Amino acid sequence: MQTNLRGRDLIGDLDFSKEEVETVLEVAFDLKKKKALGEPTPYLRDKTLAMLFFFSSTRTRGSFEAGMAQLGGHAAFIESATTQIKHGDTAKEIGEIYGRYFDGLAIRHCDWLEGNKYINEVARASRVPVLNMQCDIYHPFQCLADLMTIMEKKGRDLRGKKIVVSWAYAASYLKPISVPQSLILQMPRFGMDVTLAYPPEFPLMPEIVEEAQAQARKFNTRFEITNDMVEGFRDADVVYAKSWGPLLTTTDPTEGKRLQDMYKDWITDAKKMSVAKPDAIYMHPLPADREIEVTNEVLDGPQSVVYDEAENRLHAQKAVMALTM
Ligand code: CP
Repeated sequence: MQTNLRGRDLIGDLDFSKEEVETVLEVAFDLKKKKALGEPTPYLRDKTLAMLFFFSSTRTRGSFEAGMAQLGGHAAFIESATTQIKHGDTAKEIGEIYGRYFDGLAIRHCDWLEGNKYINEVARASRVPVLNMQCDIYHPFQCLADLMTIMEKKGRDLRGKKIVVSWAYAASYLKPISVPQSLILQMPRFGMDVTLAYPPEFPLMPEIVEEAQAQARKFNTRFEITNDMVEGFRDADVVYAKSWGPLLTTTDPTEGKRLQDMYKDWITDAKKMSVAKPDAIYMHPLPADREIEVTNEVLDGPQSVVYDEAENRLHAQKAVMALTM
């Protein structure tokens, strides 16, 4: 167990070493057990977290806010639109000033080519830990919850297990690419074989894919890319299929929608799930476009673990907050 996380930021998935992520998971499982038993866990009594949102949220806001209260502290929900950020408060000023009010700063900023840069600028000016609640590049807390969920369903030793991280069609909006990027970076470190599936116009950032491939080589796991959703699903233990925007191809929403609409058949349905292992689990961070991205039959079916996955956001985040703040 690593005991030196106090004061640390979590912005990118590889900011914590594999051993440090194992520590987070150990604490998360303990916190989950204690919550089930009704045992109080006031590890952050009198501490405060600022939650600064530039983008909407259901799970992230709820789980960070509930988590801080369960740890004996308080979380302040701050929407960027109701601050003076649009009137000139810079990232440096937010880091300097909120770093003096609060014991931790959590930020969600998903704007393409802006979010990660902003969070890092805040972190450079902040004297307290900065936690990434999702940016344009990474969604590290979702990924920790996903890893925790996979371990609960498939065992702690994931060597030889296959996860397919697949693009899926969506009609609602061009979703960030941060979830698949975090998954392909983190899962090789825990022994999983990764298959990344997407239509040609929907690649991830080349530098992230290269880093994921380097992690796969380091941990002696397989890493494959396919442009065929069904081939990606073949023999998978974990099906993680969600939509993301064609951000490396175009940032024009109209052109992006046209590209998305070319792949309406990239829906997760029972037929595609039947290509995966019979005991495969289906994962999605939510929200999902029902009957477009995934059928109700799969999302509400016996292979779906999406509610456990959403629950584990709470426990994983409490673990990181308790260890860093
Ligand atoms: N999965 C996830 O991050 O959910 P929210 O966007 O609702 O926070």
